Amino acid sequence: MTTTSAKPSPAMPGGPRPRAAIAAKTLRTDRWWLPSLLSGGGFGLFVLYTGIRCFFIQESFWVEQYHYLTPVFSPCISEKCPDNASDLGQWLPASLPFFIPLPILTLGILTVFRLTCYYYRKMYYRAYFMSPPGCAVNEPAKKYSGETRFPLIFQNIHRYGWWLACGLLMINTWDAVRAFHGADGDVAGGFGIGLGTLIIWGNLVMLWGYSVSCHACRHITGGRLKHFSRHPVRYWLWTKVSKLNAKHMEFAWASLFSVIITDVYIMSVSAGWITDLRIFN
Ligand code: FES
Repeated sequence: MTTTSAKPSPAMPGGPRPRAAIAAKTLRTDRWWLPSLLSGGGFGLFVLYTGIRCFFIQESFWVEQYHYLTPVFSPCISEKCPDNASDLGQWLPASLPFFIPLPILTLGILTVFRLTCYYYRKMYYRAYFMSPPGCAVNEPAKKYSGETRFPLIFQNIHRYGWWLACGLLMINTWDAVRAFHGADGDVAGGFGIGLGTLIIWGNLVMLWGYSVSCHACRHITGGRLKHFSRHPVRYWLWTKVSKLNAKHMEFAWASLFSVIITDVYIMSVSAGWITDLRIFN
C-alpha cells in the first residue's frame, strides 16, 4: 500500500475539495475481489448452461404425463412443441437456422430484462468490465461516460423489459397451474402433485419475487407521486415492494438457480433418466 506525497491542488474558495491524490490502486485490505469473482463466475456458468440448453439440447423440455414444461422453453411456440405444450400456438417452424434458438422469445425477453437489471449491471460492471472492480478500488478506464450515451444508454429499456417479463411470468404461472396434473392409468388427466410440481412452484415464487422486487416495479407503485397521503393504495404497495426490493440481489441469484434446477429436473424426467416422485396421483 503506497500513497504519494504529491501536494493536492488547492481548493477553489467555496468550491468542492479536490480528491486526495492516492497512487495505490486501493487502500482496502480486505478480500474486496472475492464477491466479484464469485458472482462473475456464477453468472458465467448460468449463461453457459442456458446457451448449451437453448442451442444444442432442444429436446426433453416437456413431460406429457404430468404436464411439466420447463421455464427455459416456455412459451413453447414452435412446430416442434407437442400440442399439449403449445397453448399459445405454434408460430415458428420446427427447424430453425442454427443461430436461432428454439426458445427465441423467452431468451430474448430474459436477456433484455436480466442484462439491464440494476443488480446485474453492478455485478457485471465490476466482475467483467472492472468499472470499478469494487468500492474504493481504482478502475483501469480513464474516462467515464455513464449510461447517458451509446451503448449503455440502452440500459434504460429496463422498465419496458419489466412489462415483458411480467407477461412471461403470467405464462409461467399458467404452466405451474397445469403442473397439477395426474396420470390416470394410460389416460392422462385428473389432479396430481409430484416433486416436479413443487419444484415448478418454488421456481415460480422466486421468479415473482425477483420481478416484484425490481426497482422499476418500485417506481411503478410509488414513483412520481407528490403526496403519498393522497394515494394510500399506491403507498401501501410501495412499502411492500420496497421491503422486497431490499432483497433484490438474493432474489436475482435464487431465481437463476431455481430456473436451472427446474430445467434439469424436467429434462431428467422427460428423458427417462429419473421418474417423478409422486405425492398424489
Ligand atoms: S432492477 Fe433487477 S429486475 Fe429490475
